[in-house]
This record gives sequence, structure tokens and C-alpha cells, in this order.
Amino acid sequence: MCGIVGYFGKRRAKTILIDGLKRLEYRGYDSAGIAILERNKIRLYKKKGKISVLEGLLLDKKFEGNIGLGHTRWATHGKPSDKNAHPHLDCSGNLAVVHNGIIENYLILKKELIKKGHKFKSETDTEVIAHLIEENFKGDLEEATREALKRVEGAYAIGVISTKDPEKLVAARYGSPLIVGLGEGEYFIASDVPAILNHTREVIFLDEGQLATLTPEGVKVTTLDNKEVKKAVTRIEWDVSLAQKSGYKHFMLKEIYEQPQAIIDTIRGRIAKDERKVLLQEIGLSSQEIEKIKRLFIIACGTSYHAALIGKFLIENKVGLPVEVDIASEFRYRNPIIDSNTLVLVITQSGETADTLAALHLAKEKKAKTLAITNVVGSTASREADGVLYTYAGPEIGVASTKAFIAQLTLLYLFTIYLGSIRGTIPKEEAKEMLKALKNLPGAVKKILENTKGILSCARKYFHKRDFLYIGRGINYPIALEGALKLKEISYIHAEGYPAGEMKHGPIALIDGDMPIVAIATQGSVYKKVLSNIEEIKAREGIVIALATEGDKEIAKKCNEIIYLPRVREDLTPLLTVIPLQLLAYHIAAKRGCDIDQPRNLAKSVTVE
Ligand code: AGP
Repeated sequence: MCGIVGYFGKRRAKTILIDGLKRLEYRGYDSAGIAILERNKIRLYKKKGKISVLEGLLLDKKFEGNIGLGHTRWATHGKPSDKNAHPHLDCSGNLAVVHNGIIENYLILKKELIKKGHKFKSETDTEVIAHLIEENFKGDLEEATREALKRVEGAYAIGVISTKDPEKLVAARYGSPLIVGLGEGEYFIASDVPAILNHTREVIFLDEGQLATLTPEGVKVTTLDNKEVKKAVTRIEWDVSLAQKSGYKHFMLKEIYEQPQAIIDTIRGRIAKDERKVLLQEIGLSSQEIEKIKRLFIIACGTSYHAALIGKFLIENKVGLPVEVDIASEFRYRNPIIDSNTLVLVITQSGETADTLAALHLAKEKKAKTLAITNVVGSTASREADGVLYTYAGPEIGVASTKAFIAQLTLLYLFTIYLGSIRGTIPKEEAKEMLKALKNLPGAVKKILENTKGILSCARKYFHKRDFLYIGRGINYPIALEGALKLKEISYIHAEGYPAGEMKHGPIALIDGDMPIVAIATQGSVYKKVLSNIEEIKAREGIVIALATEGDKEIAKKCNEIIYLPRVREDLTPLLTVIPLQLLAYHIAAKRGCDIDQPRNLAKSVTVE
């Protein structure tokens, strides 16, 4: 997720662009840049680091140009650096592009353009768009952009300017948001409304496959096949802070609702056209090396550790590879038995967690092959592991991890299929079934997000409770841990996650009429066992909030509260069961007036021991 802003009007563009980028910094902040059209030249300034670094670079410079583009980056292809920062230019330096999204076929297009003599300066997918427009340019920037985009596969929101068609700014979107702001004789483009709210509240929301051409005459919207479209104008009533959270009260709630997109973006480009194969070229391990792996360690902290536990279930069940999961702060002080046939996978959203990095270093010292799953391109973990697999959840601002977690589970599911296909434990037809179920998952997640009545009612009834217990079995036991962590870290209520089968070994002594027990009881191989745990609890007057599969009438008679979830394959249920637990924690914390995005004593990335 990156932030784009563009200006076309009578005022000087530079300050408008920089202020707009600052209001989009929550969308990405590893590098930033601007391009301004001035005296028939494009003045380009871009820098690794936050927008304030770019601002410092511009302090002593004067800008007169009244047309320009700005970009604040969250790297997906190509690590954060000055040369990978946007805007990107074509060979002539007369055309500039900013982009938010992922071009899936950029390598093929790049090879084709290099063969035609184009010279590339960056490692990004975006730069391909600049050269593709240059290749198609015959005098009309809109037409050249339209022709170029017909070759592009993937997601994009772009802005384009050129000295060869100087009275024009062209924008287009497919799969990434883009708006057009309508001022008095001046026009704006942006990834999101905060960037332009102090100039105009009149906004056009572009739809998929639409282009907007900004000229002194106004704004024209067309489709990729050049049909003009009449667009409604929306008046935005939000203030900037609310707008940065897309109208949600907290970043955490916004990020919970971004989870369907996080799954879609993490899958993007990783399923072969025949839908039977997973593509993970960036893994940095050959098929031969993967076949030779005898043991897999998955090491992480906190929520990422819970993802690791689910990875263990998936991989042992589908690949038949022994998997050991450990908390990084424990692993780093043990003497794990590791050799060159061991693969050590670290999972870390930030890529900077001190204990996880220390575990990675220990694994490398012991000559293990190493792999990192992380959400931050260019993070320490991504640079120090032998291979890296990125989640594409976009920046996660809330300290409590939500969309990054579901993206980790998505990637672990893909990784399982990848390993199983290579090691011959997952036949093509089964891989096809698993991938089809995964691709349908965003729809199931959306269904839960759109029907939160039961969760809100539980939050209202139980937000004042002092203790909660979360129980689950099998692949959903880690979700019991995750649900408890979410509640304790943002509402400060004591909560424990436990294997449901452990009730008799201690926790059952806690049961009274005052402690809610959240039971994950979706249909599956351990359903009956969880049901008997629920009966044990009810026999002792316990309060049971159950997560169940829609249509399950039997369980409803045994619980105080029931939250129904769509039916999916058992090995995908964690990606659904976690959603109501995130929302329950959020709404309880909201009722308790907690600082949800920045809970006390916590940091988004624990870079110290
Ligand atoms: C989860 O909600 C917490 N913010 C925390 O447990 C987090 O998962 C943990 O610190 C690990 O962070 P990482 O994934 O960036 O390594």
C-alpha cells in the first residue's frame, strides 16, 4: 500500500504535494518523492526515509511548476532506496509515473522493453509503466497511458505527467484506490481523501479500469476502451484524522476490515495459471534443497508465534515434515539440534523483533538454511535470511496485529502447498481444491465482518469482566491463544488461551458464574471433543461464548452466546475464527475506553530484548 498525490492547477505544486504526502504517510513511509513539471522539464526529487527526509532535501530549492506528482512508498518489489523510490521516469526523463499496487507481469514486460532498448534504473515493477507509456506515446498522454495499461496485469493506481503533453495529468486505477479532487480551476488525484481535504471536499471516486484526464478544461473520465463515463461527485464530511482511518475510529478496526484485501494481496501472483501450483520464486531455495529438508523450525514472538503454531499443523498434516515451533526468546538460549538439512523459518511482521533476529542469527551460526516471512520489504529479517516470503498486508499501524496475522496464515497455507507439491505429498488435484478454497476465503471473511451483531452484544454484556478463558483444539488451539492475546493487550483484561483438552488438568477449577469462556467449536475433526468440554463448563454454571459453524443447531442449546461462521475447509478455519475474536477484543476495549491503537506499555515492534 503506497500513497499517491497529484496536482494540476494554477498554484505552485510543491507544497500541495508535500502536505498531501504527509497526510498519506500511514499508507507507507519507507521512501518518498515528487516530480514537478517546470519550464518544460521534470524536476525529480526522491529519497529513502520518511517524508521529512525528502522535505529536508527540498528546503533550499525553489519550485514554480503548477503540475506535479508525489508518492510515499511501502515497498513491495525492490527494497527501500533512493533509486527505488517513486516517481519513476522513462528513458527520456520527460515522463514521470507514480504507482500504488503490484504489477504481476512486470518481469515479462521489462524483458520486452529492454529488448527494445529501454534502460531501467530501479528494481521496481512500477518503472515498467513509465517505459511502457513511453513506448506507446504518439503525442497524446492519455492515449499512450490507455494503451500501456492494456498490457498490464495486476493492481495499479497511477498518476502520469509528461513534458511532451504538458497541459495534462493522467490517472488510472485497477485494484488500488484512486480519487479525483475538484477544486476551483484546480484538480487533484490521491490514493485517499486525507491528502486533499484542506483544498476540496468535492471528490470523484474512480472505479475499476477507469482513467481520469485532468486539463485546464476540467476532468474527463473514460474507460480502458475509451468510452467517456459520467461520474457522481461526493462531498466528504470527515475531518483528516477520521479520513486517515477511512472513517473507522481506530487504525486497528480499519485494519480488521482490510483483512479480505490482505488475503487477496498476499495471494496475488502466487497461483499458476493452471490453478494447481503455487509460485514462490523469491523463496531462495531450490526444489532439491526443499526435498532434502529433514526438519523445520518455525520461530517467532507474540501473534506471529501463533501463526507459527498453525503453520506446524498445516505442514505436518499435509507435507509430513517434522516441525518444531518455538518462541524466539526461548529458542535463542536453547541449544537446538540443527544441521544443514534443517530449515529455520522466522515469522515477523516488522522484520525487526530483537529476539526473532537473534534466533535467526543462531540458526545461521548452526548452518541451517533460513527463511523469513515478513510484512516489511527491506527489513533486517528480509535481508539476513537466505530467502524471504513477503506478506502484502500493507502498513499495520495498530499495535495489535490483525491483518498481518491473517496474511501470515495465508502465506503459510501457500507455503504448505508449495512444499507438498515439491515433496510429492500434495497431488495437483488436491492443490487445486486447496487453492480454490483459499481464493474464496475473502468472501467468507467479509461475511463475518458484515454481521457483527452477536459480537457487539457479547462486548456489551461482558466488557466489565475481570477474567476470560479461551479454549480451542487442533488447528484452532493457536487461535484460542491469539484471541486471549488480543483481549489482554488492548483491553487490559486478564485472558488465557488453553487447549480445550486441558480443562480437566487445572482450568476447570476457575469456572464460576463470572468468567466468560470463549470456545472455538467449529465443525471439524475435534468438534465433538470441544462440545463435551462445553458441557463440562455448563455443568459448572460457566458462561460459554461459542464460535460455531452456521447451521449447527445442536451447539446453540448448550451455550450462552453463539457466533456463527461460514463453513470452510477445516485447515482454513483459523482464518475465520480469529476474526470474531479480534472484533470482540476491539469492542470490549472500546467500551472500556482504552487506547486501542497504542495500548499502554506496548510497542509495534519490540526491537530490544
Ligand atoms: C501482537 O498483537 C503484538 N503486537 C505482538 O505480540 C507482536 O505479534 C510481536 O511483538 C511480534 O512482532 P513481529 O511479528 O513484528 O515480530
